Amino acid sequence: MPLSFRHLAAPRGRALPVLGLLLTALIFAIDLTVPVGSAIGMLYVGVILLGLWSAWLPFPLVAAYGAAALVLVDLYAGWDDHTAPGVVVNYPLMILVFIFSALVVRRFVMLERQAGAHLEQLGDFKRALDAAAIVAITDVRGRITYVNDKFIEISGYSRDELLGQDHRLINSGHHPAEFISELWRTIARGRVWHGEIRNRAKSGHLYWVDTTIVPFMSEEGKPYQYIAIRADITARKAAEETLTQQAALARVGQMAAVLAHEVRNPLAGIRGAMQVLMGRRKADDPERTVMQEILTRTESLNDLINDLLLFARPRPPRIAELELAPVVRDVFATVRQDPAGQGLEFEAQGPSLVVRADADLTRATVLNLVLNAAQALQGSGRITVATAVAPGGMVQVQVRDTGPGIPDEIREQIFEPFFTTKARGGGLGLPIAQRTVELHGGTLAVTCPPEGGTVFTLTLPGPAGPG
Ligand SMILES: Nc1ncnc2c1ncn2[C@@H]1O[C@H](COP(=O)(O)OP(=O)(O)OP(=O)(O)O)[C@@H](O)[C@H]1O
Ligand SMILES: [Mg+2]
Repeated sequence: MPLSFRHLAAPRGRALPVLGLLLTALIFAIDLTVPVGSAIGMLYVGVILLGLWSAWLPFPLVAAYGAAALVLVDLYAGWDDHTAPGVVVNYPLMILVFIFSALVVRRFVMLERQAGAHLEQLGDFKRALDAAAIVAITDVRGRITYVNDKFIEISGYSRDELLGQDHRLINSGHHPAEFISELWRTIARGRVWHGEIRNRAKSGHLYWVDTTIVPFMSEEGKPYQYIAIRADITARKAAEETLTQQAALARVGQMAAVLAHEVRNPLAGIRGAMQVLMGRRKADDPERTVMQEILTRTESLNDLINDLLLFARPRPPRIAELELAPVVRDVFATVRQDPAGQGLEFEAQGPSLVVRADADLTRATVLNLVLNAAQALQGSGRITVATAVAPGGMVQVQVRDTGPGIPDEIREQIFEPFFTTKARGGGLGLPIAQRTVELHGGTLAVTCPPEGGTVFTLTLPGPAGPG
């Protein structure tokens, strides 16, 4: 919606003054030939009013003085009887009307020019704002009445899709209800709100905007519209997040070192002692089950500590060419043995491809994903591992299941360390998998297709490497 007020400017050039001059001459000629008396003044006023359209500011006054001079000439040099009753009053009044009309026209033209200049300045401000920021205007109920091109660009929606909608369209669900209602309370009271908001574009990708919302108040002191000015801060947020993650990782690293030292060794001692005690019992001793339970628990504790160490201090991958088909077969065999794998269908799809990766780490990663899928299926369903060639010299491995999927609200948390929805989960499976994949120069992403289930997509460099 480009604003331009140039069309409001008066026509340039000399056309109007010349026309005014001609009309004045014509009126004077009429005045000389036809006895119209003081009514001729109305025609002169018409000429003065032409000044409304003239770019030449002195026009109305010049026309008024000219008209005044001509009626006086006509009165004294022409045939009008300047001693007739009424003339003494009429002619000075007529001249006053000329001057008064000229002043009014002049004032109007000046006001119009000022308003035009203000509007033009406003238009310039708006162009500058549109170039610098993401701008939206909403009515008092939050329905969008205006968006600029930057808004359209970042949100991915067309103008038609946005107008009339409210900002829930781009809500990412990240902010708690209290945050949103605090925002509304602030602007409804006529105060400016400032904060950082995460939105979701039409394509689903998330972006952060630094947002200032300014309420526009009516004379009764009630807001009638809001203007929201935003700047894209997605890159800054990503950098901040990386820093936080690195700090968290460093803490986990310290903790893991302590755990490895102070817990793993005593744990090994307990296990050894328990095995000795069990060895002294008869095979049918009822206390052996309790002891076995203690052994199992210490083992899973040990696994958790190993996971933690792996996560906090991953060893550098030993890169070699690795064929994927045997890895998938091996993982399926392991999960079939696992209690979680009972009663499930396993399927390998796609060609056997070669990746450049660490064999043990890759196997552990695929195992992690397939085990998660098996745990989600709870005894019935299908797990598919599909391989395919991906762009950029990469190879893609997808682990799909027909399970319940992952609810929207936790989908971003599953890669966070210690996030788990399982009673006995450590919440380290996915963070380790992601870390490992990134160490290889690959990616790990999750989607939940509309037809149900979960798809984890892993990419690793192919034999030719990325490029
Ligand atoms: N295929 C899947 N289907 C449904 N939910 C899943 C799937 N994979 C992962 N999740 C969810 O992601 C969470 C985190 O997974 P992650 O592997 O990191 O930890 P975990 O499996 O809970 O514990 P751990 O792997 O450390 O034993 C899980 O608790 C589960 O809620
Ligand atoms: Mg897991």
